[in-house]
Amino acid sequence: MYLGVDYYPEHWPKEMMDEDILGIKKMHSNIVRIGEFAWHLMEPKEGNYDFSFFDEAIEKLKNQDINVMFGTPTATFPAWLAKKYPTILSEDEDGTVRSFGGRRQYCYNSSVYREFSARITENLVKHYENEQAIIAWQIDNEIGHEGSDMCYCKTCHEEFHLFLENKYENIDTLNREYGTIFWGQTYNHFNEVPMPTKTITTHNPSLKLDWARFRSFSLNRFTKEQTDIVRKYKGEHQFVTTNIAGGFFSKWFDHEETVKDMDFVSYDNYPVWGGLTEPIPPAEIAMTHDFNRGLLNKNYWIVEELMGAQGHDIIGYLPRPNQAKMWSYQAFAHGCTDMLYFRWRGMTKGAEQYCYGIVGHDNNYGRRYKEVQNVFSDIRNYEEVLKSEIKSDIAVLYDYENIWSWNFQQQSSGFDFKNELMRLYTPFYKLNTHIDVVPVSRDFSDYKVLLVPALQIIDEALAERFRLFAENGGTVIFTFRTGIKDHNNNIYLKQALPGFVKDITGVEIHEIEALSAEQIVPVVGSGQFEGVRSTCSVWRDIITPVTAETLFTYEDPFYSEAALTKNSYGKGTVYYVGGGIEEDVLTEIAKTIVENQQVDHIRSEDGLEVYNRVIDKKVYYFLMNHTAETKSFDSTTLQPYESKIVCRN
Ligand code: GLA
Ligand code: ZN
Repeated sequence: MYLGVDYYPEHWPKEMMDEDILGIKKMHSNIVRIGEFAWHLMEPKEGNYDFSFFDEAIEKLKNQDINVMFGTPTATFPAWLAKKYPTILSEDEDGTVRSFGGRRQYCYNSSVYREFSARITENLVKHYENEQAIIAWQIDNEIGHEGSDMCYCKTCHEEFHLFLENKYENIDTLNREYGTIFWGQTYNHFNEVPMPTKTITTHNPSLKLDWARFRSFSLNRFTKEQTDIVRKYKGEHQFVTTNIAGGFFSKWFDHEETVKDMDFVSYDNYPVWGGLTEPIPPAEIAMTHDFNRGLLNKNYWIVEELMGAQGHDIIGYLPRPNQAKMWSYQAFAHGCTDMLYFRWRGMTKGAEQYCYGIVGHDNNYGRRYKEVQNVFSDIRNYEEVLKSEIKSDIAVLYDYENIWSWNFQQQSSGFDFKNELMRLYTPFYKLNTHIDVVPVSRDFSDYKVLLVPALQIIDEALAERFRLFAENGGTVIFTFRTGIKDHNNNIYLKQALPGFVKDITGVEIHEIEALSAEQIVPVVGSGQFEGVRSTCSVWRDIITPVTAETLFTYEDPFYSEAALTKNSYGKGTVYYVGGGIEEDVLTEIAKTIVENQQVDHIRSEDGLEVYNRVIDKKVYYFLMNHTAETKSFDSTTLQPYESKIVCRN
């Protein structure tokens, strides 16, 4: 088990190194992450590689038995590279070239950038392949984050044409699949196809989705090139990972593809960042962990865990005492096995002087230091528990092509994919169930419950998988706009909605209405929900039940049809939620489902998260109090923001 901190020895006078490393050691650390932004230090001039600074730092770390994760430094290229080869710089949609001065302003398709990145990484990894203290390599840093996954430069445009030619082989096929006859957009050659930059009205949906696919292809090709180099030259004892940033559903790359060659996933856990006045909801933090565990379907690392307030030019919420510790226990509960906090000491200079570290700018070893020390001295007693496999009966399914379709065509100004995923995830989270968050392409036949938020793109093969799942006794919750599109982002012709899953949902949809961000419409219950009233936002599919039972209808003088239905199919049950139905209703449905499906769940006070891990017939309850109030679970009382692990035989 590795526990430690992100450490930047190059940021401080050399005479502070010994004291810092001793302080890190006394915090009960056995690993640091270094190097991910130090390209110039290691290649001060083109072709002159110099690793002496890190040689010295690593020797000192080894003397304190501290291991190293080394970051390949491609997120921050040297100024001399940008000066000599400006074509490496990426461009905004309006053609503005991103200037040197921030980070990750490179174009993934720049052959120059790919070449120089290959050289620095090869030289770096070769230099340290036999270094026993280096146990892992981190590829780049939060690759694709902060808007760097998009580039509209000339090189990308040319590469996009090649990408399309490889996909469609001849231009007539593209024209047909895109429907370019519409608005007379028929192309004679691939090199006539635009990037979806600013135009009057909007671009072709198929073009937009292919552009998203191309962005993902570009980033993942660069990541694979880098990973292949590290794998080729690294020592046998050294693992390979990359650190995933938050906001993964708003990114233009398929994260499962990004990490597929990694030994393990690493995640940067920031429950609060920048100007937020309070943390993101506990359920959403939990979901991010389940997403990262789901990428390789295995436990993962956290290589940046928040301890101090963080932000660039705007900062906000200060974690309350023990709250950052509680977030750490939540991460361990959901499958994190090894953890590094960001960062040792807050930097006094440069763009992150307001990213507060464990140690203050004043070099004081205060509350934050003691909190980390406390986590490390306690959690190391649970190594086998943290390594145990997490089994879930419930899976939330997502598909990046579907997400990109929504991100390009929001349809409702109130639509946000992550919010719609959380609409289904939260009620089951609050029942303290284990939930996997995995791609729809993953085999889902062994789950008991599938939560399927706003999955527009469903083809016959996928529909058949859902059909078999329901027929064999599974429960599925589909939501609005399910099944309306094919893989070209086009709406199906002559298909009553919800398309290929019409039969298993037992409904048809012939009328739809997008609700704006402010609109809500009333719904009223029937059957088990007789007389219950609630509301619906974002969207409403006007549902015509065919074989399904109506649980809620819209209270509307014109469209008073079904809003939420339940269909028995085979041995299973398929719900269709026709709009943004509120949490109170979905919570009652979740309770019914977990009871009927014998899903392991735990009742707890609101705001008290309970996550159980079982090994050797012992149950370890991870208790996280996400509130400023005292909470209790069984005979255990938790103070505000307190967290602990209790074991029950
Ligand atoms: C991200 C980055 C780090 C640093 C922190 C600041 O996670 O990976 O380099 O910028 O945020 O909070
Ligand atoms: Zn580009």
